[in-house]
Amino acid sequence: MKTIRLDKFLADMGKGSRSQVKQALKQGMVTVNGAAAQSPEQKIDPQTDQILYDKKPVTYQRFAYYMLNKPAGVISATEDRKERTVLDLLGSDKPSGLFPAGRLDKDTEGLLLLTNDGALAHRLLHPKKHVDKTYYAKLEGSITAEMIEAFANGLSIGDEAPTLPARLTVLTNGPVSTVEITIHEGRYHQIKRMAEAVGTKVLYLKRLSMGPLRLDPTLGPGQYRALTEEEKAQLLC
Ligand code: URA
Repeated sequence: MKTIRLDKFLADMGKGSRSQVKQALKQGMVTVNGAAAQSPEQKIDPQTDQILYDKKPVTYQRFAYYMLNKPAGVISATEDRKERTVLDLLGSDKPSGLFPAGRLDKDTEGLLLLTNDGALAHRLLHPKKHVDKTYYAKLEGSITAEMIEAFANGLSIGDEAPTLPARLTVLTNGPVSTVEITIHEGRYHQIKRMAEAVGTKVLYLKRLSMGPLRLDPTLGPGQYRALTEEEKAQLLC
């Protein structure tokens, strides 16, 4: 495999930003094949060199997986001439080839998976896979039993086919109601169109989970972290 800079390798493997990694190198926390690392620029072969970080081996992983708490106001794209994208939130130290696995509207917040693993993204997003997605929403007005039933039956939202059955759970009912909604598809503006089909309107929307992946509640809007080994195993199984 071709050699890469040690600081890039460590940052790509989730050991921190390039500057955090440089700091760790200065503090002598990194060894390459048993010898203290020389510099951030030192070239290493990720597959054959043995790198220890804080005395623990750093194993090469081909793909990167990040969980982002998408804030409102950024778009789910890799680049854009005018708008800020979700990838802009990661700064310049990100592994190459990252893209958002799925889309959230510009004004939607919450869980977005960023990866460069195309096969996984395909599996998660394929319409036939029906991966569950759960959202927290604030809806205009009170939620009635009829609305819950309409969601459960599947709704006509102007597409060729009605939606699959969805679960609408009321958290609080009032002039602005709070709910959780689970859908099994990923149609364009799906939650907003389903809300409109039952005579209400989405005032706020945040994705809480996608398949086995749950948004880490410690991540504020705009914050992200690498997936844990356990989260990766659940997604990739
Ligand atoms: N449904 C919507 O209407 N918007 C989103 O961003 C996600 C689901």
